[in-house]
Amino acid sequence: MPGRRVYLETFGCQMNELDSELVAGQLASLGYQFTPRVAEADVVLYNTCSVREQAEQKVWSRLGELRESKSDKPEMVVGVLGCMAERDGTDLMDRMPVVDVMCGPAELDKLPLLIDNAVRTRQSLVTDDPNAATKSVKSAALQGSASRRSGTLAAAGDSLEYLDLSRSVSPIDPAGSLNKSAYVRITRGCNKFCTYCVVPFTRGAEIHRPPAHIIDEVKRLADQGVTEITLLGQTVNHYRFEHDSALVSNGITQPQKGQAFKGGHRRDPLAGSNVTTFADLLYQLHENAPSVQRLRFVTSYPRDFGDDVLEVMRDCPRLCRYLHVPAQTGSDRMLKKMNRGYTVSEYNEFIDRARHYLHQPEIGRPLMISGDIIVGFPTETNEDFDKTVELLERTRYKSCFIFKYSPRPGTVAYDKIPDDVPNAVKRERNNALLAVQSRISDEISREQVGNEFDIMIEGPSQHAIKASGLSTKKANNGVQLTIGGKSADEPDAVSVAAVLERTEAETVQFSGRTDGDQIVMFDAPTAKAADLAGQIRRVRITEGAGLSLFGELV
Ligand code: 5AD
Ligand code: SF4
Repeated sequence: MPGRRVYLETFGCQMNELDSELVAGQLASLGYQFTPRVAEADVVLYNTCSVREQAEQKVWSRLGELRESKSDKPEMVVGVLGCMAERDGTDLMDRMPVVDVMCGPAELDKLPLLIDNAVRTRQSLVTDDPNAATKSVKSAALQGSASRRSGTLAAAGDSLEYLDLSRSVSPIDPAGSLNKSAYVRITRGCNKFCTYCVVPFTRGAEIHRPPAHIIDEVKRLADQGVTEITLLGQTVNHYRFEHDSALVSNGITQPQKGQAFKGGHRRDPLAGSNVTTFADLLYQLHENAPSVQRLRFVTSYPRDFGDDVLEVMRDCPRLCRYLHVPAQTGSDRMLKKMNRGYTVSEYNEFIDRARHYLHQPEIGRPLMISGDIIVGFPTETNEDFDKTVELLERTRYKSCFIFKYSPRPGTVAYDKIPDDVPNAVKRERNNALLAVQSRISDEISREQVGNEFDIMIEGPSQHAIKASGLSTKKANNGVQLTIGGKSADEPDAVSVAAVLERTEAETVQFSGRTDGDQIVMFDAPTAKAADLAGQIRRVRITEGAGLSLFGELV
């Protein structure tokens, strides 16, 4: 459909950002163009998130707003993609008749076909009978529970894998973009079934991509100038690929059902020969893509994180000293109700072991850890909550996301455990934890004063962009993210040259990140700042406050 303009907005997690990038690449290769304005769009797509109710409400309100645009422009095609499409199913179309296309996260390879179909049928409806525009031909690709029912992946091949394989780098990347970082998926779906979580239902059973596909993708991104890669998976350390049992379809090795090695610290006895473990994968990526300066991964699961992974992280200098490892709560009673599969002491053991291997502030490489916590899970008492405060004090996260429990239809908790903690209590606990975490983040930032770090420079800071009079709010290509999946209001969407041209002062504030993912601001001479972005430079920290460090180039 050459010339059709698409508005694509992404909600939710990094996995969704990557999905949107792949979808956008695919649509661009078919001749679609992108616009930042709904009013100019022929096709409006929302890639949605279901993890908490609030995320869904945003999409409902966007869809509500669309009703008017669509009555002005009846041939407009509206698509809801992602987890909300999968979770709500076609009920969503009944509730919101503006929606023409729905596509779950495990079916995104079918999206171009669905859109094409919708565009054609809408056009003919509009031309043949103007009144018919309110009727629409709806189409949906949702996996339902199909992937859970089948024991093996379809013999015909996992067509979703082709979407990742066909990644184009990157027709949607705006000219002058600074973006040098990218996400690469290593696993899809999740088998854990934490009782509050909708992910196993929306993204389906856990599967692991063949290591050769992941390595090729990273190498291709590296060849195109990407210097920072974040590997994505719901529980990355469960990555494991058994070569002997790999299925090949149409000459392409297929992803495999997730079969984690549950050996705690121990090394998988099959590692290296028949099996590629997570540690093997990290090592091979590190060795095969030397131009990638920073390699990190999210999200780690606190159990079954082997010493072999920690050793690889310790020994490979371009693997970042950063772990995102959610505890969710500091109470064993709550962990059990959440079906998390570990105890607080096991969590603590992992944090201590990780610090033992990886925390080396004396060489500028402290280990930074971040987490997620849910407050107000059903039956949570003050005593349970106090234990979560204790966990925060003990773990000392660099930063931590704190969420109020939100019951999600379809999950075990929704069906079996009444949401009995009043919202006011959830809010109070949320605020109390935020205060504890802000204090800890601030302390950790202050502790860095006097230390030196190699930082990867990202570009002018938000402060510098605003000072130059440029808006930080808009992508110039209409896709609400760029190649690394950063949102358009991050500095990448604005070119460095544009900021420097508009900066009259002799120095301009730039920002970068340590390999532990701490943000560092520093002043650079405006005249010499043009090619700083993307470089790794050493800074000495002069000040630390909140989540930010301030330093000077050395
Ligand atoms: N309510 C609140 N937070 C949730 N999360 C997942 N499901 C829910 C829910 N129903 C949080 C968890 C997870 C993060 C991505 O979102 O902390 O780690
Ligand atoms: Fe959800 Fe638990 Fe799987 Fe994470 S591990 S995606 S919280 S079910």
